[in-house]
Amino acid sequence: MVGGIFRQAAASGKVAADSASGGFMPDNQPAHVLITGASSGIGAALALCYARPGTHLSLGGRNQERLADIAAQAAARGATTSVASIDVRDRDAVADWAIAADDRAPLDLVIANAGISGGTHGGPETADQTRAIFAVNLDGVLNVALPVIPRMIARRRGQIAIISSLAAYRGFPGAPAYSGSKAAVKVWGEALRADLAPQGVKVNVVMPGFIKSRMTDANDFPMPFLMPAEKAAEIIRSGLAANRARIAFPFPTAFLAWAMGALSPVIADPILRMLPKKD
Ligand SMILES: NC(=O)c1ccc[n+]([C@@H]2O[C@H](COP(=O)([O-])OP(=O)(O)OC[C@H]3O[C@@H](n4cnc5c(N)ncnc54)[C@H](OP(=O)(O)O)[C@@H]3O)[C@@H](O)[C@H]2O)c1
Repeated sequence: MVGGIFRQAAASGKVAADSASGGFMPDNQPAHVLITGASSGIGAALALCYARPGTHLSLGGRNQERLADIAAQAAARGATTSVASIDVRDRDAVADWAIAADDRAPLDLVIANAGISGGTHGGPETADQTRAIFAVNLDGVLNVALPVIPRMIARRRGQIAIISSLAAYRGFPGAPAYSGSKAAVKVWGEALRADLAPQGVKVNVVMPGFIKSRMTDANDFPMPFLMPAEKAAEIIRSGLAANRARIAFPFPTAFLAWAMGALSPVIADPILRMLPKKD
């Protein structure tokens, strides 16, 4: 499932990889960032948020046209980029891509962002959709994180950001597989953080509420505190720079989702059943 892997150089004309030195820059910004699902939404906004001179971005996604456009915008901001047409479900291809990126220059930050969602379409969620969502949202995260962890441990440096969701706090009846997959990576990331901290590797769990993107553009119900992807990326960037264990936002939705998870199912289930369902 891997398409062509190609590089783009920054406006300076230098070959992208040549300028990626690895390590954190003086203001604690990572010099080499790898992002899955960088072709759209939060991943694209994160790519542009980190784009600046001295930073190399390894960007993955499936849609080459949108990826190339994001890479061009990042280059216009002074970053160098490598772009890979990659499907996060393809374990070997993702491992090869991540290792090749790390060989080029040590990865300071890996953002496991690629994800899909789906609702129940007015009936029980299908088996096919359930498996498709877990394959991208869970396996896709493992596929990119696991190959780089031993390398980060070996150099006692590096950071892995796992994009979960506020839907991880509680199973939402309108999106069982989505909630379940996001809960899995949330809990895995929390445990991994404590496990890897003594090895010098940081792990952060990111739990956004409603963010404007292709994913939420498909929703036809009101989305409280819907936030632009650019603002979400800035919150994530500053949370990662501060090495916050859990980056859950915006606060009102984060609090409500957390409270739903804390409530007894006897109380929470009837409330959740009243919420609009994703199609
Ligand atoms: N938007 C929200 O309200 C919200 C809230 C909480 C969490 N999140 C999470 O944030 C992440 C980004 O979502 P988004 O809102 O930015 O949605 P989006 O605009 O639909 O972006 C999803 C990204 O994931 C990539 N992707 C999907 N399947 C893939 C696959 N099999 N292999 C490689 N890349 C794949 C897409 O790439 P291609 O299009 O190139 O395939 C795209 O770049 C997801 O994990 C999502 O669950 C979103």
